[in-house]
Order: sequence, then structure tokens, then C-alpha cells
Amino acid sequence: MEKQKNTEHSLKQALLLLQHEKIFSGLSSALQESIALEIFSQLPSTNGYLLENSTSDYRLPVFCLAEMQTAGKGRMGRQWHSPFAQNIYLSCRWDLTCDMNQLSGLSLVMGLAVLQSLQHYDLDKKLSLKWPNDILADGKKLGGILIDVLAAAKGSCSVVIGIGLNVNMQDDEQAIDQAWNSVQTIHGAVVDRNELVAVLISNIFSYVKRFLQHGFADFKTSWEKYDALAGRAVTLTHLNKKLQGTVMGVDTLGQLRLQKNDGTVIRCAAGEASFHNSG
Ligand code: BTN
Repeated sequence: MEKQKNTEHSLKQALLLLQHEKIFSGLSSALQESIALEIFSQLPSTNGYLLENSTSDYRLPVFCLAEMQTAGKGRMGRQWHSPFAQNIYLSCRWDLTCDMNQLSGLSLVMGLAVLQSLQHYDLDKKLSLKWPNDILADGKKLGGILIDVLAAAKGSCSVVIGIGLNVNMQDDEQAIDQAWNSVQTIHGAVVDRNELVAVLISNIFSYVKRFLQHGFADFKTSWEKYDALAGRAVTLTHLNKKLQGTVMGVDTLGQLRLQKNDGTVIRCAAGEASFHNSG
């Protein structure tokens, strides 16, 4: 009986495939002229696709979506579970006028763009951001950001911004090795991915523009509202090194401020934080 319910549910969702027209109808006419959008039923990885096609003459930021990924990439070489027609796997290739060392701030800003896009579903109190790239709902992973750099020179870099968001994902405990959540679970109803993608693209576009103009400093107060790590005792792992301390928020570049046990405060541009019991 349960199995039949799940099959019906999957069939219903499969009918709601991503559609160029529907997504474009949710964008302003100015934005329709300012981006390119490519949709695939299957790709190894949307980030990989945009990285490998980097020689194409992309005059506009290109957004790429896939219904499923067979080799979806997460951070730290992990795999991103990407079942068909349930979630959002979105990448955007963009030539930015910023230095590479500002990119940690960009990853945080993209997390804020995702949260802004979820406003409509009234989930705000449940959402938080775990530096540098995790989107959490009720403390469980809802989505993540993966930024790949194509090319960098002083004052400019070409990047691929990848966003994975669990939208209507069904239980699949064996495939995911960490606690996860979905927009549908917390919203309580199936979510129209075409609508959500349109809002997401609009927010990514405007947040990247604002980031290029004003830097992360302009987003710092918003970040503080959702910061899952502030005040927490963590172990920060970066390049095989482990640092323990208490998180003191982020600075105006989006770097993590970590107070070590000897009282000194250091800034970290990259790494992965895990909570630990301080006592
Ligand atoms: C993370 O580890 O939290 C980052 C996950 C990023 C997944 C997205 S899905 C779209 C894009 N394509 C990929 O292969 N990865 C990113």
C-alpha cells in the first residue's frame, strides 16, 4: 500500500518537469534578455557541463538545469545525490569582476539568495546557513553551494556557481549519508520547481550584481540573522589541519572568525566546520 502511494506520488511529480517556458514566464522581461537558460533531462553534473563547455562564447551568464545528475558533485569530493525530477540542480557560469580571494564571500551570498527564494514558503524560522555553503532546515541539510573557478586573473574570475536544493525528494536514507530535509517536508506540500527556479534565478542574478558592487559587507547583517555557527564550539578542518575554537561570526569578507582556545582570533577563508562538545 505504502509502495503504491510512493509510486503515485513519483508519477505525479514526474509530470511536473522543468520547462523553459514556465521558468521564463516567471522572470522579468529585462532578465529574460540578460541570461541564457539550458535544461537537460540528464547530465553527469551541471557544474561539470558548464566547466567543460567553457570555450563556448557565452556573452550572457548561462544558467543550466538538469532533471537528474549521474555524477553530481558536492564539496570535498563528495557525491551529490541527484534523483530524477525531484530537486533543483542548477549551475550558473559567470565572468565576475572580483578577485579570487573574494569568492568565499560569494558562496555565502548565494546561500542568502537561496533563503530569499524560499521566503514564499514561509519557512524562515526553520532555515539557517552553515558557513561556508550549507543551507539547513531544522538543522538538517536542505541544500549546498559549490563554486568552481574556471579562470582567474587580477580583478576578474570566471566561475561556475552550483546550487543543489532538496525540493520534493522522497525518503532515500541509504543514498545519503547525512541528515537531510526537503522544502516539501517543511512546507507540507509539493513544490512547483518551475516557479521556484524562476525566483532562484532572479535572486541569484540580483545578489551577484549587488555582491560585485558592494562586496560581502553589504550582506553581513543578513548573514548574521541565519548564522548556524555563531557562538558554537567547532572543529574546523582545512587542508588536513584541524583547528578547535568558538565561532565569532564572519568578517566583512565572509571569512570565519574563530577564537582559539588560547583566546586569539583567527580568520579562515575556507574549511569545513563540525560541531563538537566543548565540555
Ligand atoms: C555541497 O557539498 O553542499 C555542495 C553541493 C552542490 C550540488 C550542486 S547540484 C548542481 C551543481 N552540480 C553539481 O555537480 N554540484 C552542484
